[in-house]
Amino acid sequence: MKLFIDTANVSEIREMAWLVDGVTTNPSLVAREKRPFRDVIAEICEIVDGPISAEVTALDADGMIAEARDLAGIHDNVVVKIPMTEPGMQAVARLSGEGIRTNVTLVFSANQALLAAKCGATFVSPFVGRIDDIGGDGMGLVAEILGVYENYAFLTEVLAASIRHPRHMIEAATLGADIATVPYAVLKKLFDHPLTDTGIERFLKDWEGVPK
Ligand code: E4P
Repeated sequence: MKLFIDTANVSEIREMAWLVDGVTTNPSLVAREKRPFRDVIAEICEIVDGPISAEVTALDADGMIAEARDLAGIHDNVVVKIPMTEPGMQAVARLSGEGIRTNVTLVFSANQALLAAKCGATFVSPFVGRIDDIGGDGMGLVAEILGVYENYAFLTEVLAASIRHPRHMIEAATLGADIATVPYAVLKKLFDHPLTDTGIERFLKDWEGVPK
């Protein structure tokens, strides 16, 4: 399973670069950084040698394609994030023909994921947390998409997104999601367990009694 970090903050990315396989950003995450978009993406690409998702903001296929070509020109690691709309899928199909990798974002149903795969998306991003937020079953959607993809020879990888807590991470891994993209704060929590802390404390205390 691959682990991505879901942030546009280069300090967070630098700190976790030894661990992560890629990075996802979105317009909201980039806006928090108060820096030019292209500069942020170029810097992230120098830090992590893996897929770096950068999102288009145009709503029409031609506009998305123009933005995608421009973003893909920043660095070979860039994967263009395209929203799951009909024009978005037209753009994905054309970009896939040009060899530009895409991450279909804002996916909330298995039909949307099926269309993304048929259009040649590199990654498909079901937003688990946002579904849970409205009382739905986000991980159920991940399971459904994996089941659909298993029936065919799609190369599209399932990227569990909108991960909100450590439980989401382990559920995505249990289901066999190809990737989870995890915010910095959640990533840090994955290392922790209170029994690990008390265990270390006890070992060190007992160690004091060992003749040196
Ligand atoms: C995924 O690529 C998105 O950037 C992200 O996971 C969205 O998460 P949120 O629902 O917490 O904003």
